[in-house]
Amino acid sequence: AQVVAADFVKSSVRPDDCPRDGLPEFALVGRSNVGKSSLLNSIVRRKRLALTSKKPGKTQCINHFKINDSWYLVDLPGYGYASAPQEARKDWDAFTRNYFLSRDNLVSVFLLIDASIPAKKIDLDYASWLGQNKVPMTLVFTKCDKRKKKKNGGRRPEENVEYFQNLIREYFEAAPPWIMTSSVTNQGRDEILLHMSQLRNY
Ligand code: GTP
Ligand code: MG
Repeated sequence: AQVVAADFVKSSVRPDDCPRDGLPEFALVGRSNVGKSSLLNSIVRRKRLALTSKKPGKTQCINHFKINDSWYLVDLPGYGYASAPQEARKDWDAFTRNYFLSRDNLVSVFLLIDASIPAKKIDLDYASWLGQNKVPMTLVFTKCDKRKKKKNGGRRPEENVEYFQNLIREYFEAAPPWIMTSSVTNQGRDEILLHMSQLRNY
């Protein structure tokens, strides 16, 4: 399940512009700054294939990366970025939800949740929407390397993860698969690749 080739293919602003070769794909979604682009780089073992930033709002399009010439990882803009203009946020929200509902070759959405802080309402709302619309979803907890801090609620990543899972239980018939990760230590990288290969059936 290792990555031997990873290539940027294109940036799209509408689902209609996305690649049409029908290869299976996995999309990374989550709050701005949760670590989507960093996780993608960790998975493909490249430092700067997807661009990252300390400031939220870095990724602004649907970015397709082809892996091993046979499937895609898709980097998306984050939700909940308060400083982006309201109109831009509405636009983004509409096109990503539309993408989730209409993209036939989307095998699973990977919903990224920051494990270093307590659950945020906007993340619960997003999980609830995916559950109600029966969009196949995998939960990926990010930043599991971060130590607990008083200002972050004083809980360990494991505690935040368990708390989040309890809160979303009611939205799903079966609990979604979940993986704990860190782009700093590369925790979870092999588990994600194995999970993706199982979902693709090869
Ligand atoms: P947008 O594109 O703005 O939506 O953000 P994003 O979700 O792609 O986040 P990005 O990967 O750009 O990372 C945001 C910040 O979090 C950067 O400063 C990263 O270095 C940091 N970060 C990402 N993943 C981790 C992690 O696993 N551990 C720690 N400690 N920091 C991380
Ligand atoms: Mg990004």
